[in-house]
Amino acid sequence: MKHEARILQEFYRAGTDGIVGATLQTNTRLDGEVIEATIRELRRKGFGIESHPYQGFCLSESPDILWDADLTARLGSATGIVGRQLLVVEETTSTNDEAERLALKEAPEGLVVLAEIQTRGRGRLGRTWHGRSGKSLLLSVLLRPAWRVAELPRLTIMGAVAVCRAVERLAAIRPAIKWPNDVMVEGRKLAGILTEMRAESYRVRYVVLGIGVNVNQEAAEFPTELTGRCESLRTLTGRTWNRAEVTTLLLQELDQIYERVNEGRFKEVAAEWQDRCTTLGQWISVRSGSSRQTGFAESIDEEGGLLLRTGQGLLQRITSGDVTVIS
Ligand code: BTN
Repeated sequence: MKHEARILQEFYRAGTDGIVGATLQTNTRLDGEVIEATIRELRRKGFGIESHPYQGFCLSESPDILWDADLTARLGSATGIVGRQLLVVEETTSTNDEAERLALKEAPEGLVVLAEIQTRGRGRLGRTWHGRSGKSLLLSVLLRPAWRVAELPRLTIMGAVAVCRAVERLAAIRPAIKWPNDVMVEGRKLAGILTEMRAESYRVRYVVLGIGVNVNQEAAEFPTELTGRCESLRTLTGRTWNRAEVTTLLLQELDQIYERVNEGRFKEVAAEWQDRCTTLGQWISVRSGSSRQTGFAESIDEEGGLLLRTGQGLLQRITSGDVTVIS
């Protein structure tokens, strides 16, 4: 772990109690001079570090930057797999591309790639995902689950539940899920999830779970074609949020959920997803390519597929598509 990360981790752990220099030296195994130089560097980056004669050092403010050392410090040992390795890049075509490139170089499961700018950010069904530098959260998580290809829709479900939980831990907002992957508040989109994978025969080689969250955009900062269709944490709460904090909560939730699913407890996650899903219990129309199916959205199955009861009473399983509620 970098010096900066070790020191920040101690600050986050100490919270408002602060930490005295001697304890900081012991815990980080860094000498006084290195600590002083690193603290100067951290202050230059925008971290508010106060030093009191008795209380020692206390972190009063963290800048809204995405920096691997800060994220590593915040995560500490709170996650087992997700966030084991972190990569923050300024610009990329898509964090999913970046994660995939590293997956092919045998990057470890749990790698998280974050970017400020995506030049070809993508959504489901070939759509563009619009992020805004300094304001959105654009990240991808590399996972290597020992699952069958048919079980992959589970990942989208995991991602959507993790986003909802993280948002709820931050603010008094209860997001809903629109099948399969839209995280919505009051009918407008707050976050989206794009799962991409490589499989050999029917076994998964790796999966990239891409998540985009609108954090600090103002309403006028969304593209005009999306006017009235998006929300950000800022538009919902009237304040700005530290994206590193949002990322930390999201990765913690995702890690917990992934662990649970790997313990064979997907049913619990699916139940939570069902609870939050506004698509179920409604007459809907699902468009996929040139085909359209209409029916009553009954439930999701073990593998994350949507079970649609048609007007003729048949049960259809849908794995992808765009849902419209028929009023
Ligand atoms: C959707 O709602 O259609 C899915 C949107 C997914 C967007 C995220 S942003 C990070 C990652 N990189 C991408 O290019 N897409 C996903």
